[in-house]
Order: sequence, then structure tokens, then C-alpha cells
Amino acid sequence: TLIRLEDYRPSDHLIDTVELDVRLHPRETRIVATLALRPNPDGRSDAPLLLDGDDLTLTRLSLDGEILDPAAYSATASALTVHEPPRQPFTLTIETRVDPTANTKLMGLYRSSGVYCTQCEADGFRRITYFLDRPDVMSVYTTRIEADADEAPVLLGNGNLTEAGPAGQGRHYAIWHDPHPKPAYLFALVGGRLDRVSRPFTTMEGRPASLAVYVEPGKSDRAAYALDAIARSMTWDEEAFGRAYDLDVFNVVAVSDFNMGAMENKGLNIFNDKYVLASPDTATDADYAAIERIIAHEYFHNWSGNRVTCRDWFQLCLKEGLTVFRDQEFSSDMRSRAVHRIGEVRTLRARQFPEDAGPLAHPVRPRAYAEINNFYTATVYEKGAEIVRMLRSLIGAAAFRAGMDRYFADNDGRAATVEDFLAAFSAETGRDLSDFARWYERPGTPVVSVEGDYDAAARTYCLRFRQRLAGAEDSPPLVIPIALGLVGEGGPIAAACERVGEGVFVLDRACDEIVFSGVDERPVPSLLRGFSAPVRIEMASSDADRLRLLARDTDSFNRWQAAQSVAMRLIVERTRADAPPAEDAGPDARAFVEALATFLDAEALSDPAFAALVLGLPSEGDVANEIGGDVDPDAIHRARRTLRRQIGQGLGRRLDSLHAAMTDATGVAFSPDAASAGRRALRNAALDLIAAADEVRGGELAATQFAEAATMTDRLAALSTLAAIPGEAREAALHAFGVRYADEPLVLDKWFALQAMIPEDGTISRVAALQGHPAFAITNPNRVRALLGTFAMANPTQFARPDGAGFRLMADAIRTIDGTNPQLAARLLTAFGSWKMLESGRRTQATVTLGEFASAGGLSRDVADILGRTLENG
Ligand code: ARG
Ligand code: ZN
Repeated sequence: TLIRLEDYRPSDHLIDTVELDVRLHPRETRIVATLALRPNPDGRSDAPLLLDGDDLTLTRLSLDGEILDPAAYSATASALTVHEPPRQPFTLTIETRVDPTANTKLMGLYRSSGVYCTQCEADGFRRITYFLDRPDVMSVYTTRIEADADEAPVLLGNGNLTEAGPAGQGRHYAIWHDPHPKPAYLFALVGGRLDRVSRPFTTMEGRPASLAVYVEPGKSDRAAYALDAIARSMTWDEEAFGRAYDLDVFNVVAVSDFNMGAMENKGLNIFNDKYVLASPDTATDADYAAIERIIAHEYFHNWSGNRVTCRDWFQLCLKEGLTVFRDQEFSSDMRSRAVHRIGEVRTLRARQFPEDAGPLAHPVRPRAYAEINNFYTATVYEKGAEIVRMLRSLIGAAAFRAGMDRYFADNDGRAATVEDFLAAFSAETGRDLSDFARWYERPGTPVVSVEGDYDAAARTYCLRFRQRLAGAEDSPPLVIPIALGLVGEGGPIAAACERVGEGVFVLDRACDEIVFSGVDERPVPSLLRGFSAPVRIEMASSDADRLRLLARDTDSFNRWQAAQSVAMRLIVERTRADAPPAEDAGPDARAFVEALATFLDAEALSDPAFAALVLGLPSEGDVANEIGGDVDPDAIHRARRTLRRQIGQGLGRRLDSLHAAMTDATGVAFSPDAASAGRRALRNAALDLIAAADEVRGGELAATQFAEAATMTDRLAALSTLAAIPGEAREAALHAFGVRYADEPLVLDKWFALQAMIPEDGTISRVAALQGHPAFAITNPNRVRALLGTFAMANPTQFARPDGAGFRLMADAIRTIDGTNPQLAARLLTAFGSWKMLESGRRTQATVTLGEFASAGGLSRDVADILGRTLENG
């Protein structure tokens, strides 16, 4: 059954306060919930009280202190109905019993490596007690947690600690009170044996707050970076958005079994330990950056999500898109803005564009859902963030900041909608944003096609734009901010055009044209600078024009984009049957290599991180998306490899010098900062191209680097280069790595992932064998995603093997996982979301596998939803 946005109605009842008494026990946890209920003046006055439940056992129920007559209510595992509730405020006391050890869905209250923890978003609270489990019902919570003192010496809840002490018979308790009203999805508790690192913080309002990170015993030396990131996030949100923290404590807990990245529960963020734990020997530069970003993301939710929450789950992008935008801005300020922006766009194109192009496409604000947990998607998160970014480009940074202040002020303590968000900016600027709001409603990636016309006599340059969006041909156009400029032989040209303000042209019609005057030479347009809108640009332009942008544009994003576009064209050309023979690079590739060489000579040393990105070719997935239909992953793989070899050979000794020049200075302590990480990125980009050109020499260099590496980044990069070269050296290195990190599950995840990505026939049996590895666990989401998720999402030639074996391997695994953790299973199944893009043989294999999968039956709602949409739409 579908839940629809248009059916929204306010709740018939409200809950002002919630008192929870939780007695933790591994198999029989008892929860007593005392709810202060009242009829909602905006609801129906004669309505029954209908509380949500999921897998619950009711053991006792009373109303205003009296045990309720069984005829007055009905209770099932999934609902509790009081037929004729009082018409005035009343108290309901509900006692339930749950089994945290048996909870393998990792929703509600569960145990992860002996630690009790909760995950309530989107609808997990109903697995703890019967409740009005919807985000527009907001309550003040007081939670008493009791546990065996030995099993769970640490007891954490939302808000501030008000009381703690012994509870007799070896047990103890803690009482937490959260003064900020919140929806149930932000509830959390933790009980377990955990180590703690902490530091004080004083907010700009002068409020002292104790910041703490809790990790598995013995791992506290790996929590320092996360703790520091909390403090930096708090300071940044004060400076960038004027938002201060609002409780006495801010706690982060790392757990090893977690369905997603992390969760922003009020004052008690619970994290997948992958996004907390870091040490130079176990974490890569990318891990450090991800920890910083996700710590910031969850902290920023304290305002964008918690203080201002969502009215209903259709508004998910209101908190997620906005918070992703905020964490992107934070990371850009902490690191290199240009480099970070390129990373964001790469993620968007790798994950969101294919979603928008396939059967799982949906608007940033979906209109209907069968299972909300399937809508925590790249579209809601990443495209949602792009909408906020476009809004800022349209109205300008100052008006944007003022609008944000107004949004927070007007909606503090409320459950808001996308309309409330836009209303704040309309009020601030006097602008009607209803046309812009179409971005929230339209699925699909718009295409903007552009033609340029230079008139030397008139000294004018005309740009003609046309926007189109598949499936929305008869709908009004989108409002697309296009940052642009003109670039001449010697660099940017100052030319006048009154339609371009602050370097941005706003395309808000189906077709439009703009004219620049005073243009003295034929310019190359630099379009969509900084990737100012989530669209595809189509413009016929020569490699020479693009390479001019690489050399001369001032916009870093478009310089990178220029190199990507040329590489993309060369790869796509090489996928064709009549492609030139591999030994001969051809004049186009030689010109590309020459441009790269010039660029590296001039700039590699001054901005290694950027140079590493310019050297990176579009991924096989990017190429598949570009081709768009009848995709042959093997042809793409060969074509890309050929171009990499040609680039490696063309750059030759330059790469060796770079590899040597970027070596970490010996004796200097490891630092995960962006500049050091950039040097390592360039060093490893060079290594990989050296190996692409010459497997023997590159293999030897990689083996040496693998043996001598002082950081996980360098060790893993060397191993990844080796992984592409079949032979004994590779197997020996893989073995050595596996032995060295046998007791480090998060490091072994990298090892699982790397092997799952090997583009060879043997990978299927390798992956099957690794499923039996002692460190692998089909119940642990990180292990599953590392091995199986990587295989399905990052190894196109093997997942989409022509014989269908890759599809079958995944289908079998997903069926097994669906029995314990439907959310994880559904997430893996989205890997089939691009099957319609494949050539017909592979497409047939996919349909057969998915058809068998469907007909076997017994699927969870999560998996059935993804499967149904994957097979039906588009
Ligand atoms: N709100 C979390 C975030 O920071 C995501 C949690 C989603 N969990 C889920 N089971 N759907 O993005
Ligand atoms: Zn979030």
C-alpha cells in the first residue's frame, strides 16, 4: 500500500511528554512508556487513538492509572487502538517487551557487539513502544535506563543527565531529560562497555558543553580526530550560520553494526564506527575526510532536522538536502573548495544521475512511497543539496544567509515543509519562488543544449540555450542558474551581457538566447562553472576548445570538466568496433596527453590534489551513463584501459618524477590535512598510470611502495594498483595485507572491496570464497557492503557478466540478507537499477534473474518495493 503526500492530515492526538523506563536485558528488555496525550485541536475530535507498533508484545496497559478493560482496546504486534479515548488530556501507560539480541533488522533497540543501541529513523521507535510514530508529533522526553552495571557501565540518553546511581542486585540506572520537544525518530539510548574521550567546548552564547566520543574498549586512541571534528563543526556552524549548540553534553557513540552512516539523535549521535575510528595505520585520507564530513553532517542536523524538523517523510529533503549542503560547505572551508566541489559532482554523477535515468527515479520530494527507508537516496540527499545551492546562486550569498536565519527563527520547534523553507527566502527577498520549486517535483536530469555563434564583424557572441527534461515535455520549464564566462586564447575575456549578473545567467524558459558584446576574438564559453545546476550540458565543441579551458579558464571545476570531457569522448570513441588499433594513440589522444603534460609541468607541484583529479579518467560507470543505452561493460573497460595506457606512455618519465616528488618527507609525522592528502593523491595517481603503461615496471614500483608505505593511503593505493596486475606478486601482497590486518574488521573491508573490484572472470569465485572468510559476516552491514556492495556497484564487467553469474551471485546473497536485514537487502538490490541500460544479452540475464527472484516470493516490503519499481517503470 502506498502512502501519499496528498493524503496528509494532522494527527488526531498529540503527545506532550514521554516518560520511558527501560530495563535493559539481552533477551527480555522491558519498556514502560508513560504518554501525556491530548486531542489535537487540528484533528478529528471523535477519532480512536491509533498507535503504531512493529513486532511488539504488549504486557500491560493503563489509562489515567487504571488498567484498561480489554474491550476498550485492541493490540496486535503492529498496532494498538484505544477505541474511545477521553476527549480531554489523559495519560496512557504502556508496557512492552522486546528482544534486542534477536533484532537483526538493526531498527529499534538492538545489540551490536554486546552494546545496546537504537536506530529510530524513519520508523524504528514503534519497535520499542506503541506510539504516534510520525515526525509532526513532538514531545519532551525523560528516559530512565537501567542495566546490569557490569554489562553496561555506560548508559546514555538524549538531552542532559539528571540522575544516576545503583539500582540493586548489581544493576544501575541513569535518567536523561531532553528539554527540546522532538519527534520519536530522534529518540536514542545506548548501554554498554565503552571507552570515552572528551573535551570541553564553550558556545558563542557562553554555554559550556562537554563533547564526548564513545568507542569500543581499547580504541580510544582512534577517536581523537572525530572529537576534534565535532568542535570544528560547532565553531563553523556558529560562524557560517549563527547556530549554537543547545545542551550540556554532545555525545557520539560508535557501533559496529549500523545500516547507514550515522544518525543525528538529539544530543546522542550514533555512528557506524567506520565514520568515527581513524588512525594513520588503519585509515586512508578518504576515511579522514569522510569522518570529518559525517561528524559535521550529524551535528548540523541539530538545527536543520532537530530544532526544525519535518512535518512528514515526504519532506525528507528539507533536512537531508539542506544538511548535505551545509556539510559540503563545511568541508569546502576545511579543505580545498575547488577540489571538494569536484568530488561532490563526481558523487552526484556516479550515484544520482543513474538513479534519475533508471526505473528508481523519483522527485527530490517524492509524492508516494511504500517503504520510506527506500527513499534515503542520492536524489533526496545529493540532488536535494544541489537545489539549496542553486537557491543560493539565484538570490546571492547575503540574502541566502538572511533567509536561513529567518527559516530557523520562524520554524524553531516546528515540523516544517519545503514550502515553509522557500517561504523564508521569498519573505527575505520579495521573490516568488514558485517556479523554482519545480525542482522538488520533477524527476530526471534536465539537459541543456547550447549553441554558440561568433560574429567577428559585429564583435558579438551569441549563446542559444534550450532545456528539456524527458517525461516533462509539456510542463513549464525549470529555473536553471548557469554560471558562465568566455575564455579567449590568452584567458578570460571581459565582455558585456546584461543578462549575466554576478557571472550567472538564469535560464527560466524552454529556449533563450543571450548576446555578449565587445568580443574581439572567437571565444570558448565556459558553461556551468562550479557545476551551478544538476543538469547535463550538451554542446558540440572541439577537443581544442576544451583543452583551451583546461589551460586558460579561471574556474577550476570547468578546467577539470574540460579534461574529463575530452577523456570521455576518447573513451567512447574507443568503445566502437571501428576504433583505431590500441598501439596507435592517434592524434587526438596525443594532443590530450600533450595538454596534460603542459598542465602538469605548470601546476602539479603547486596544487597536487587538483592535478590528481585532472589525471583521473571518468569511471566505467560514468562512461556507461554517458553512452546511455545498449551498454557493453567489457567494451567500456577495454576502451578506458587503452586510453589509460596511452596516457601513461605519453606522460612517461614525468610520472616517475611526480611519484618521487610527492613522496612524504621522511621523519615528518603523518597528517591527514588536505595538502598532505593531495600529495599522496597525486603520487598514487602517478603510480597507477605508470602501471597502466608498463605492468612490469609499475608492478615493481607498487610492490616497493606496498612494502615501505608509512600510511594506509599509500599502502592501499599500492595494493590497488597491484590488484589490477594478475600474478603471484598480487596474490602475495593480498595475502600479506589480509594477515597483517586480520583483527581489524574495518581495514579488512578495504581488502574485501579491493578484491571485489578486480575486473576478471575469476572474481566471481573469489567473492564467493570471501563470503566464507572468517572475518566476513552476512549480518554485518559494513562487511556486506564492502564485499557484495562493491562487487555490484563498482565492478561493472563482473556484476553484469554476459553469462549472468554476477547477477545470480547478488540475487542469492540479497535473498539471504533479506531474511535478517531487509533494509540492507533493499539497498543492495538497487544495484540492479541500471539494468535497462545494458545491451540485450545482459538485459535478458538481468530480467531472468530478477524474475526468478520475484517468483520465489517471501520478500520483505523493503525488497518487494525496490524489485517492483525496478521491473515496472521506465
Ligand atoms: N538521518 C540520517 C542521516 O544523517 C540517516 C538515517 C536513515 N536511516 C534509515 N534507517 N533510513 O542522514
Ligand atoms: Zn542526514
